[in-house]
Amino acid sequence: MRAGGGALTATIVSVIGNPRPASRTHALARTLASELAGVLGGGPPLDVDLAALGPAVLDPADDRANAAIDDVLAGDLLVIASPTYKATYSGLLKAFLDRLDTGALAGAAAVPILLGGAPNHQLAIDVHFVPLLLELGAHVPARGLFVLEADVSQFDDTAKQWARAHAHALVDGAALADRATTDEIEGDAQRERQRAHP
Ligand SMILES: Cc1cc2nc3c(=O)[nH]c(=O)nc-3n(C[C@H](O)[C@H](O)[C@H](O)COP(=O)(O)O)c2cc1C
Repeated sequence: MRAGGGALTATIVSVIGNPRPASRTHALARTLASELAGVLGGGPPLDVDLAALGPAVLDPADDRANAAIDDVLAGDLLVIASPTYKATYSGLLKAFLDRLDTGALAGAAAVPILLGGAPNHQLAIDVHFVPLLLELGAHVPARGLFVLEADVSQFDDTAKQWARAHAHALVDGAALADRATTDEIEGDAQRERQRAHP
């Protein structure tokens, strides 16, 4: 989170976990990220499209996959989108996020988006997706979005309203989490100093 003209500006990064390039899932993530940027200002959102990496997400030596991880770690607001596969997110997204350490996203706020065909799978956001993001340390201050395929054509409006309603909570959440993480690190350093020099 950076100060710009007195206000905080957030780096927005979208992660798209669809194995197919140029997917509707990608379009949803891009639309929401650009609405959030419209409310919050700052630079244009960055896309990390995992379809472009494919099997490289499993290769720890792959430069492009490592650069994609660095991009995600540099984000303040993460829009993380996946098609619903087997009542949860895609294996591609999970394989990519498994490269991150537990707690690696501390200081960032995340928004999960699932695109799916089955209304009875909408709880996958709360039951599967949010716990994954929390395990990675991200702050998830607002309800994620389960988008039915039948509702994709209305998503421009949905994204606009969602961004207006939640953008500031996301930034506040990320800033608070950032401060808490810094306090935690400083607290650990202080305890370490006390242990070394009681
Ligand atoms: C392998 C596979 C599994 C799927 N499983 C589900 C599912 O469990 N629930 C659901 O709502 N939709 C499921 N779908 C439908 C996809 O979620 C839907 O087609 C997808 O979100 C379309 O996104 P796209 O246009 O970005 O590819 C599945 C699709 C595929 C290919």
